[in-house]
Amino acid sequence: MRSARMVSVLMALLFGIVVAGVAVAGEGPDVITLKAKKGDVTFNHHKHQAKFKCGDCHHGPNHSEYKAGMKIETCDKCHNKEFKNKKLNSVMKAMHTNCKGCHKEHKADGAPTKCSGCHKK
Ligand code: HEC
Ligand code: HEC
Ligand code: HEC
Ligand code: HEC
Repeated sequence: MRSARMVSVLMALLFGIVVAGVAVAGEGPDVITLKAKKGDVTFNHHKHQAKFKCGDCHHGPNHSEYKAGMKIETCDKCHNKEFKNKKLNSVMKAMHTNCKGCHKEHKADGAPTKCSGCHKK
């Protein structure tokens, strides 16, 4: 019962976001400018939220599954040079894996895969 209710709450939330595009508290910034020497990346957070689930990009400590309402921390909190897995020990590596991974799957929908599609000088 409990999980069924959770699902309907999640569905209602998702529906609200898709239909109205309205920001709910805790959703984070609308647009995030990710600074990079290669050229800053303008990341349209809310536009991505409208199409995808929070858990497609955010996870909990120890890579636990994203749960609605949980505290969201910036990637650099964990993906820094102290990080054990060397393939993910920087924000660049964490974001390239996440962003580019999905963009490759969604190339046909217009998701940029070239450097200059994300990095603008
Ligand atoms: C396509 C990927 C993606 C999706 C989907 C996504 N986010 Fe984010 N979100 C990010 C990135 C990247 C950042 C910036 C992280 C950083 O600066 O290290 C961010 C930042 C945030 C922040 C600000 C964190 C801080 O302390 O600066 C909040 C809050 C947040 N997201 C909530 C959400 C919620 C809630 C959802 C689902 C409704 C969601 N996000 C969906 C990628 C995503
Ligand atoms: C609280 C710590 C923590 C935060 C914050 C965090 N991560 Fe992670 N992340 C981990 C851990 C732990 C793993 C698992 C590493 C492994 O499998 O070697 C992981 C794995 C990953 C992976 C590889 C597996 C997968 O899910 O595809 C990606 C990509 C990733 N994180 C991206 C991000 C991005 C992007 C952010 C910010 C939006 C972020 N992480 C924030 C701890 C964190
Ligand atoms: C789960 C899939 C997914 C993830 C993860 C994802 N994207 Fe996207 N992104 C898309 C899709 C699909 C499009 C193209 C469709 C559209 O325009 O909405 C897109 C479009 C874009 C665009 C083109 C302009 C725009 O806003 O439409 C930029 C720039 C972008 N993404 C940056 C990023 C960055 C930076 C990250 C990682 C922090 C990221 N994306 C993560 C799916 C994703
Ligand atoms: C889907 C979007 C996307 C694509 C495509 C992409 N990047 Fe990035 N890149 C990012 C994001 C997001 C960051 C993290 C910015 C940050 O640290 O906040 C980043 C960070 C970097 C950084 C480290 C930050 C700096 O100082 O420059 C380098 C270098 C870089 N990218 C090079 C490349 C190159 C080369 C390509 C093409 C082969 C490429 N990127 C393609 C999104 C992208």
